[in-house]
Amino acid sequence: MKGVILAGGLATRLRPLTLVTNKHLLPVYHKPMIYYPLEAMRKAGIKEVLLTTSGDHAGDFATLLKDGAEFGLKLYYAIQQNATGGIADAIALAEEFVNGESMLVMLGDNIFNFDLANAVQRFESGGSGAMIFGVHKDTESKQYGVIEIDGSGKVISLEEKPEKPRSDIAQTGIYIYDKKVFDYIRKLAPSPRGELEVTDLNALYMKDGILTCEIIDWWVDGGTSFDELLAANNRVAKMVAEGKL
Ligand code: G1P
Repeated sequence: MKGVILAGGLATRLRPLTLVTNKHLLPVYHKPMIYYPLEAMRKAGIKEVLLTTSGDHAGDFATLLKDGAEFGLKLYYAIQQNATGGIADAIALAEEFVNGESMLVMLGDNIFNFDLANAVQRFESGGSGAMIFGVHKDTESKQYGVIEIDGSGKVISLEEKPEKPRSDIAQTGIYIYDKKVFDYIRKLAPSPRGELEVTDLNALYMKDGILTCEIIDWWVDGGTSFDELLAANNRVAKMVAEGKL
């Protein structure tokens, strides 16, 4: 399985921190934010990772991360020309890189400590559809996609930032897709905010009955707000002090 980390976007919610610096290069306690998904990729058993970002910050990532050897990975880079194209638009950049394999996608601002190796192995042996990762959270805040699952983990409803959430399971930025993902993305139209939404992409898998959800223990989206960024720093500081990270 290949890995894809999305590190583009304008990060307007974190201005002025992000006027000059890409959000994913901001510090989370003792490391740049982007280190966390890279380390999660290696832990999951992924060997080759494509990092997508905007042209104006690609050089910063290359200077910091080089060829990925320090992380035990082979790292490649792709440029997302349209910074406001959305998550599914950025995933589409990986088509040649993935070359018919399945892929593990992570948003570059996601901080978590869940070991994905088991899920990756199960997906590779089962082989098709998509798997998304959810976390129990306050979904009333209208910051996240909201997932409803049945007893077997099959997704039965999925809504982007709903007014009335049907469950307390928030959609994280961690997804596993089979090779059909690029055909599904070609079917998407921009949402009211003008983006190709990952939730619309996942909903296509759900409609075909091939979308499952795994629950992870904790997760912070460090790029959502100043408070979430602070929460990510505090969480990591605590885990480091406890010797868990
Ligand atoms: C995106 C997804 C949302 C998901 C969130 C996780 O939201 O659209 O479903 O819950 O990432 O961080 P965005 O950050 O683009 O508003």
